[in-house]
Amino acid sequence: MLLHGTEALADAAREGSAIPGFVAYNLETAQGIVAAAEKSGRPVLLQAGSSAFKHAGSEALMALALRAARDSSARIGVHLDHSRDLDEIAACVEAGYTSVMIDGSHLPFAQNVALTRRAVELAHEAGVWAEAELGALAGDEDVSTGATAAGGSMTDPEQAAEFVAATGVDALAVAVGNVHGFTAEPVRLDLGRLERIRTLVPVPLVLHGASGLPEEQLLGAVRRGVAKVNVNAELRRAWLTAVAAVLPGALPGADAVATWTAGRDAVAATALRITERLASAGSPV
Ligand code: 13P
Repeated sequence: MLLHGTEALADAAREGSAIPGFVAYNLETAQGIVAAAEKSGRPVLLQAGSSAFKHAGSEALMALALRAARDSSARIGVHLDHSRDLDEIAACVEAGYTSVMIDGSHLPFAQNVALTRRAVELAHEAGVWAEAELGALAGDEDVSTGATAAGGSMTDPEQAAEFVAATGVDALAVAVGNVHGFTAEPVRLDLGRLERIRTLVPVPLVLHGASGLPEEQLLGAVRRGVAKVNVNAELRRAWLTAVAAVLPGALPGADAVATWTAGRDAVAATALRITERLASAGSPV
C-alpha cells in the first residue's frame, strides 16, 4: 500500500531508527525492494527518479513503481529522487507519487530557496511531501567512482534552519561528509555538525550516500536525527555481483531469466539487510 505523509519519518526519528530510500531502475530492482519491505514488515521508500527515468522512460518507471507499491501488503512510499526540474516534479505528483525531492544544491542559496519553494508549493497542493538538499555531496549518483568527500560542501546548520523556514520543506538532505557511491577511503561523518543541524532544524533529516558508509558512522547518524537513508550503489553492486555469478563462460548457453531472477533476489537480500539494520540504530543521542 502507498505510504503517505511524513509521520513514519517523524516516528523513526523519535525511536532512533530510519527508513531506507532505495533507488530502483527497472522492474526487477523495484520488485526486490518491495520484497524487502514485505519481509521486514518495515516501511520503505521506493525511489524511482530522474536519472533512472533516462534508462527506463519516465512514464513506464513511474507506473511500475506505483503499481508495485500499491499491490504490496507493505507500506511503501514512491519518491522522486534528485530532480532539478519542476515539470518532472509536477508529472510525478500528478501520477500519484507520495513524495518528491527538489535538488537545488548546485545553486546559490537564494536560488535554491526560490526553486525549492516552488517545488514545495507544487507538492503540497496535492498532499505530497517534499525533500530538498542544502550543501553538496561529492561522488556520482549512478556510477561508483571511488570518490572522496573532498568535492562536496558541508551544510551550514544556521543556514539550514533559515532554508527550512523559508521554503516550508518537509525533510532536509544534509551534507556532513557523506559521499554518493563507494569511496576509496572509509568516510567519516561530521556527527557534531549533524547534531547542531538537528537542534536547529524542525524537520526529519535525510542522509544520502549511505553505500559503503562504515556501520558505526551510519548508525551514529541515525541516532542523531537522520530519519531517511538513501541507498543506491550498494544495490547496484549486489545486482551486478549476482548476475556475474550466474553467467556461464559461454554466453550462447546463458539463461537470461535466471540472471534477472538472480539480480532481483540479490537486491531483495541486500535491501532487507539494510532495512533491518536501520530499524534499530539505538537510543537517540
Ligand atoms: P549511494 O549510491 O552512496 O548509496 O547514494 C544513494 C543516494 O544518495 C541516492 O539519492
